[in-house]
Amino acid sequence: MALIKDILQTMEYGPSPESNEHVVAWLGQHEAGFGHFIDGKFTDPAASESFEVTSPANGKVLARVARGTAEDVDRAVAAATRAFKSWSKLSGHERARHLYALARHIQKRDRFLAVLETMDNGKPIRESRDIDIPLVARHFYHHAGWAELIESEFPGYQPVGVCGQVIPWNFPLLMLAWKIAPALAAGNTVVLKPAEQTPLTALAFAEICREAGLPDGVVNIVTGEGDTGAALVGHPGVAKVAFTGSTEVGRIIRRATAGSGKKLSLELGGKSPFIVFDDADLDSAVEGLVDAIWFNQGEVCCAGSRLLVQEGIAEKFYAKLRARMGTLRVGDPLDKSTDIGAVVSTEQLERIGALVAKGRQEGAEVFQPSIAMPAKGCFFPPTLMTGVEPASTVAMVEIFGPVLVAMTFRTPDEAVALANNTRFGLAASIWSENINRSLDIAARVKAGVVWINATNLFDAAAGFGGYRESGFGREGGREGLYEYLVPALGKPAKGAEATKAPLNPTPSAATALAPVSDDAIDRTAKLYIGGKQARPDSGYSYAVVNPAGKTVGHAGLGNRKDIRNAVEAAAKAGSWGAATAHNRAQILYYIAENLSARAAEFEARLRAMTGASAKDAAEEVAASIRRTFFYAGFADKHDGAVHSTKSRHVTLAMNEPFGIMGIVCPDKAPLLGFVSLVMPALAAGNRVIAVPSARHPLAATDFYQLLDTSDVPAGVVSIVTGETASLAKTLAEHDEVAALWDFGSTGDAATIEAASAGNLKPVWSGAPRDWTSGDGQGREFLRRATQVKNIWVPYGE
Ligand code: NAI
Ligand code: MG
Repeated sequence: MALIKDILQTMEYGPSPESNEHVVAWLGQHEAGFGHFIDGKFTDPAASESFEVTSPANGKVLARVARGTAEDVDRAVAAATRAFKSWSKLSGHERARHLYALARHIQKRDRFLAVLETMDNGKPIRESRDIDIPLVARHFYHHAGWAELIESEFPGYQPVGVCGQVIPWNFPLLMLAWKIAPALAAGNTVVLKPAEQTPLTALAFAEICREAGLPDGVVNIVTGEGDTGAALVGHPGVAKVAFTGSTEVGRIIRRATAGSGKKLSLELGGKSPFIVFDDADLDSAVEGLVDAIWFNQGEVCCAGSRLLVQEGIAEKFYAKLRARMGTLRVGDPLDKSTDIGAVVSTEQLERIGALVAKGRQEGAEVFQPSIAMPAKGCFFPPTLMTGVEPASTVAMVEIFGPVLVAMTFRTPDEAVALANNTRFGLAASIWSENINRSLDIAARVKAGVVWINATNLFDAAAGFGGYRESGFGREGGREGLYEYLVPALGKPAKGAEATKAPLNPTPSAATALAPVSDDAIDRTAKLYIGGKQARPDSGYSYAVVNPAGKTVGHAGLGNRKDIRNAVEAAAKAGSWGAATAHNRAQILYYIAENLSARAAEFEARLRAMTGASAKDAAEEVAASIRRTFFYAGFADKHDGAVHSTKSRHVTLAMNEPFGIMGIVCPDKAPLLGFVSLVMPALAAGNRVIAVPSARHPLAATDFYQLLDTSDVPAGVVSIVTGETASLAKTLAEHDEVAALWDFGSTGDAATIEAASAGNLKPVWSGAPRDWTSGDGQGREFLRRATQVKNIWVPYGE
């Protein structure tokens, strides 16, 4: 007698198509085309140029949508600006009611939205129905909650203004939800541009906004291509830009917004490792891979696209994987038993094909199962490339298709080295039955999201976003909300502005004999690099002049080479980040004590250098001591969190240091400003290359001695004096500097932010603030000194 098990093996799937009758009817009602959604109304489609939207599964035209011009964007931003006035004034509770209404309306139309998404994008209905749309509703519910809590949970913060949001085609409605829900919760209004390939669910969402009674102008949707997106991110009325898409366009946007003062978050590409250790449950890991790389045809920014397998089990694992690939069903996305649908467009299909050909050419062995493939449409078979060299094209670039590349490793260290051998840092998936090993690797992988014995888990309560060239900022969770808020700061008192005039260089040898001033200790302050005083590479120093025009000392004129040396020294001091927070706290206490012991010297220095009164100088030193104690106290209290995600996981939100940070200090309060920026960065575990105020550098250079006598390991702090703008630019360009705070080259933000586009480091171009007030310290600084890594660990049954 045949066993059921055997019957299941041979059973054929019959077709089980999802009906698309309601969507077809809706598209029929819009046969004339879709206009933009501006100020609560759709514009007349006949008034715009338009383009076709097609279904990638069969090439059929689904609709025509308007091609947004700069004028359309302008009208939408104007509507959002008007709406901001009242929307931002509503109570959190009132905004929460609107977000709940949106969530409910989405749930009411979930099947419609899932079918429309599948027709437009090509993804299997099983995924749009069970993953995309439920997550969309979840996102609005979760953020309705945040709206309710915004005043109590984010005191002292306010909305940013009008947000310009540009999203890609891989999760059209989900990316819309990730952008719009937190923006509205925080009190902002938005203009969103969906991807040209997949604008239809955004337009359906616009109808939902109307139906749910959202006030006019709070959400505006302008359709179009890249130039429409460029007009939006470049619009002067936009205060915050949020982008998800390719790293290439992320860079363009970084440059386009440089110096504009716009708040920016970028969620870019990835080449995320999927690491399988020899003690993993191999069958689960194979199923994990199906979700990692064949979910959404592999068109997932955090796809587990780089398989790293421990050598001893590699062949066995590949065999299981190839067998499983043979059971994947590629076909009609509307069929409920389809695993892999259509790739989004013919361009994307060609791109994937070209990259696979390139892999073959570079020596990879290419496996594709012999499964039935549709004769027409944008379909690509599940593909495995083994024997891939770590430096080959297919191992480095994002393929964004159902293509997995595989490599082997021998030891856990080698796994980490391979995992981090990428310019990206979005996600990682770790498979091992050994919890110690899994967590050890989770800590060492440079990625914003880590899944242990799991993959591609998403939830509104957890932050999502990358390290390195995968971008910056988080979406989801408490950390995501900060992207849509700004602190309400007091007005800074009038005072010194950044030095813009070039510093007068003098050869440093000659300056040794410069006239000694009355009350300052005259010497040429050297740079401080790798725990030692160093002569500037240029061989020049410059005269430090007090407000009365008297030379009070000399400082080294640091250059590019000095910054390079400082970065090298910092790179060797990596143990600082791994030290316990308690250790760091102790060292910061030590600095504070030593500063206090030498308070009189620092006061004298400030008076001589800035012309401050005895009282003001004493206050600045006292405030610097207190501030150092503050961050010593905080070092072991900038806790992470366990997010309440929807699945059975403890989702650890860990505050990790960036690594090496550049910090350019303000002229105002030259000691307190330096301390206020360097101490939180150190407390959080970063190594710092500090550029003190160019006009008043000597309080910072005196600081060497404190660092020397306070057990600060060599290389953890380097101090390079000189022209702030050019040093800031060098720091911005440096690939190993992972984050930059620039409070010193006011007026040069455009150059410096543009220069950061290389490794896409986050740049905090700080506006002048009152360092003596509460604005000069607090969690904001610690948050800016860390990036959140979300680690999903299985928990409970
Ligand atoms: P893309 O980055 O060009 O498109 C994403 C969005 O940006 C679209 O809405 C597009 O209209 C808009 N855009 C394009 N140029 C712009 C500009 N200069 N200013 C403002 N907005 C602009 O991505 P594309 O061309 O669709 O795909 C190319 C490759 O990018 C893919 O093969 C894939 O590797 C990667 N990609 C990665 C995504 C991710 O989530 N990591 C998402 C989409 C694509
Ligand atoms: Mg493009």
